[in-house]
Amino acid sequence: MGRVVTGYGVYARFYDATQGDRAEHATYVRSLLKKHQPRAKTVLELACGTGSILKQLQPHYEVTGVDLSKEMLAVAKKKVPGVPLFQSDMRTVDLGERFDVVLCVYDSINHLTRFRDWEAVFRRTRAHLNGGGIFLFDINTVHRLAASSGGAPFVQWFGDGDLMVIEIVDAPRGAVDWQINVFERLSDSTYRLHLEEIREVSFPAERIRGALRKHFTRIWTYDARRSRPSPRSERLHFVCRV
Ligand SMILES: C[S@@+](CC[C@H](N)C(=O)[O-])C[C@H]1O[C@@H](n2cnc3c(N)ncnc32)[C@H](O)[C@@H]1O
Repeated sequence: MGRVVTGYGVYARFYDATQGDRAEHATYVRSLLKKHQPRAKTVLELACGTGSILKQLQPHYEVTGVDLSKEMLAVAKKKVPGVPLFQSDMRTVDLGERFDVVLCVYDSINHLTRFRDWEAVFRRTRAHLNGGGIFLFDINTVHRLAASSGGAPFVQWFGDGDLMVIEIVDAPRGAVDWQINVFERLSDSTYRLHLEEIREVSFPAERIRGALRKHFTRIWTYDARRSRPSPRSERLHFVCRV
């Protein structure tokens, strides 16, 4: 098993304030679930983070979450009390249970830097799905990561005068590092700097579909911003049926 690249130990406490409630993404995920698995009752989210997607899906499904970061899970525990949450690596997770849907969204799979780790997630996902079940995940595309690297930093004010600056820089073997700098405002003229670096890698959609075909009978690929995926797509959603 490769180096565990998770981070989030530092960024977890600022995640929700900077990423919002993720309602738009949850609505899109739900539209794909309604289309492909309208009778789904149970949903497992791998890399559930602070539980924002779980919270939005909870009124409609029995939800369960898995994440590797105890700091992210600590936020989730408060947000979705009563929802089963497990600290586990999505490459090796084994809950001994099956679900109608497995989700892995907001480029969580891009955090795994080797393709064999992506394949491990596909295998573990298949082992957690009921017959006819659906795996829904998204990726930042190779195009998006290449286009963002070296660009102007992303700057966001949030909270009570706090500031986040993200620089995306090239890393070895086609990866990029998201260098997250959070300036926490302590008083009018005093800030505390928190740093976190999150590495992401992507792979061509055709290679991903090839690996998925070993476990799933049908695969659909969507770009929420276009009528169909294109080489310029920045984020793709894959829906895979057992
Ligand atoms: C960008 S966040 C997405 C969180 C959530 N899915 C959302 O939509 O807000 C990525 C998450 O992936 C988790 N993660 C990264 N590597 C992981 C692994 N190997 N196993 C489980 N979770 C992992 C991180 O801890 C983090 O919470």
